[in-house]
Amino acid sequence: MENNKRPETMERITTPELAQAFIQEQLTAIKAQVGDKKVLLALSGGVDSSVVAALLIRAIGKNLVCVHVNHGLLRKGEPEQVIKVFRDELNANLVYVDAVDRFLDKLAGVADPEQKRKIIGAEFIRVFEEEARKQEGIAFLAQGTIYPDILESKGVKAHHNVGGLPEDLQFDLVEPVKFLYKDEVRVVGKALGLPDTMVYRQPFPGPGLGVRCVGAITQDRLEALRESDAIVREEIGKLPNTPWQYFCAIPDFQSTGIKYVNGQGERYMGWAVIIRAVNTVDAVTATVPEIPFSVLCTIRDRIISTVPGVNRVLWDISEKPVATIEWE
Ligand code: XMP
Repeated sequence: MENNKRPETMERITTPELAQAFIQEQLTAIKAQVGDKKVLLALSGGVDSSVVAALLIRAIGKNLVCVHVNHGLLRKGEPEQVIKVFRDELNANLVYVDAVDRFLDKLAGVADPEQKRKIIGAEFIRVFEEEARKQEGIAFLAQGTIYPDILESKGVKAHHNVGGLPEDLQFDLVEPVKFLYKDEVRVVGKALGLPDTMVYRQPFPGPGLGVRCVGAITQDRLEALRESDAIVREEIGKLPNTPWQYFCAIPDFQSTGIKYVNGQGERYMGWAVIIRAVNTVDAVTATVPEIPFSVLCTIRDRIISTVPGVNRVLWDISEKPVATIEWE
């Protein structure tokens, strides 16, 4: 039976030295487990899968096949960063799959949040499965399972991994960080030389911007959300104490705006974007941190002047409970 209990003697990885020792240990273990066989990994660009990728690249080089699925619901710059870090800098064997149209077609007209999640999860597995079938000689599947995933006994992560693959694609698993807590994964990521923007990335739901583009997703709202979200992350990210999670949501209704053309006020309908920032320990409850009014105004001005279609910026000050962190 597979051992899923963190060894009691295992020291908490808090320093670069301990991280280096862990890395050396894992390189040996991975080489012993995998030999000269090929390993497949769904690389989302999140800290867990990125650390696993970086470890495996060191251990087995091009025998690791990383598949990055762009489902169109990633944040601004994320797919580009994955390509830059893994293909260009780490010389990884990276398959980039542009599945944007495919996901958006499947999601067209779907407003129910759980239905949206199911579609995104199922489509992800389908795309990954197709890529897995194109590869020859894959013997293992690597996953960024971390210890809280095991403790929460979900077994596999909701979205980024591929627990739903069919029988003939059931590979043995390589899970080098499965006994690590999140903070330890970050220390290891840093020691592996991954960029801070990847290592300290805030939590991001598997269905991505899909659950922040409220109701049925449309291209124009999704783009407005992605652009606004980048501004919110940049401006709030400058604060000395950044909140645990900070992002944008966009509701599926419009409100009246006014613009002046040759001194004449013209009313028009536009989208509202909602700033959301929360602090939490475990995501079960969440509080809303103070954000300086000047920062909110900077965000407002940047969004209104640069994001087409948006004429209103709101700040969500709801706590969890009763509001959830995400809007869907
Ligand atoms: P809620 O909205 O339930 O979110 O208060 C709690 C935490 O979970 C994240 N979240 C998700 N993560 N798939 C994920 O992988 C999901 O479907 C999902 N929904 C919410 C959310 O970002 C927050 O950190």
